[in-house]
Amino acid sequence: MENTETVPVVRTVAALRQIVKEWKALGHRVGLVPTMGALHHGHLSLVDEIAEACDKIIVSIFVNPAQFGAHEDLSKYPRQELEDRKKLKSTKTDLVFAPEVGEMYPDSFETVVSVPKLGRDYEGVHRPGHFEGVATVVSKLIIQSYADTAIFGEKDYQQLAVIKKFVKDLDIPCEILGGTLIRESDGLAASSRNVYLSPEDRKTAGSFNKILKKLIKGAEAGGNLRALEKTATESLLDAGFTKVDYVAIVDKDTLIPIDKVNGEARVISVARFGNTRLLDNMAINPDKPD
Ligand code: PAJ
Repeated sequence: MENTETVPVVRTVAALRQIVKEWKALGHRVGLVPTMGALHHGHLSLVDEIAEACDKIIVSIFVNPAQFGAHEDLSKYPRQELEDRKKLKSTKTDLVFAPEVGEMYPDSFETVVSVPKLGRDYEGVHRPGHFEGVATVVSKLIIQSYADTAIFGEKDYQQLAVIKKFVKDLDIPCEILGGTLIRESDGLAASSRNVYLSPEDRKTAGSFNKILKKLIKGAEAGGNLRALEKTATESLLDAGFTKVDYVAIVDKDTLIPIDKVNGEARVISVARFGNTRLLDNMAINPDKPD
């Protein structure tokens, strides 16, 4: 009997393609929202945003082992597929693609997609091999689903840049959209990893965005960018974060650090509580109308 409480799921590429081919025969434009599950309102908003650009929506749920380092949280990463499929029922999602690891990476698998320059710094330093894992799985998901368009959150700003780059370089016929970063009421970026925070750390985490906002004010007023990065790092440590991986004011496309803000730039940052890494980023735009 068909379950009316959840969005239907397929687990093989063959089953996925059969459905997508039927959609395409009817002239539908297909959108893909890749996720690793444990869905929150940030993920759901990507579905709402891509709905404007396509007729049928696939959400993939796959905790991709290739993008986790040896000491990272692969085994304890939250997995709650049934709950996720229930949440998606309230959105315009038509189908969930949730393959097993063996379907994505059979024993004979060896290809890697790499974007060595754009993926080298920031996350690339702190998570070696991470972007190769992301680029490889996202290439596969786009090719497997014949997606005409796919959306990725601006929350993972460097990831979005890396994905746009390999899609362009490889002439993959899929339009890549950037989705708005969704925040909790205190400004913390919504993330599946926020559940790892103790109540005390969760409270402190609310200061992350406020500290970045202060940096942006300084940058938009023409302040020294290296000094502003240093002050923000110190403020994060004072607030109670245990480590700051980076605070960097960069060109919004190349992610190369800039000395002066001309037009729109970006601040990207990761601060930690122990092993839990929190990401945030915001636009810096001195020319924007208030
Ligand atoms: P995951 O962390 O599950 O995120 C899935 C998508 O949701 C990504 O595009 C991410 O940027 C977006 N997202 C997460 N939190 C968000 C927020 N607060 N606001 C807006 N968008 C948000 O990112 C991944 O999975 C994986 O690397 C993946 C691309 C699926 C490849 O495995």
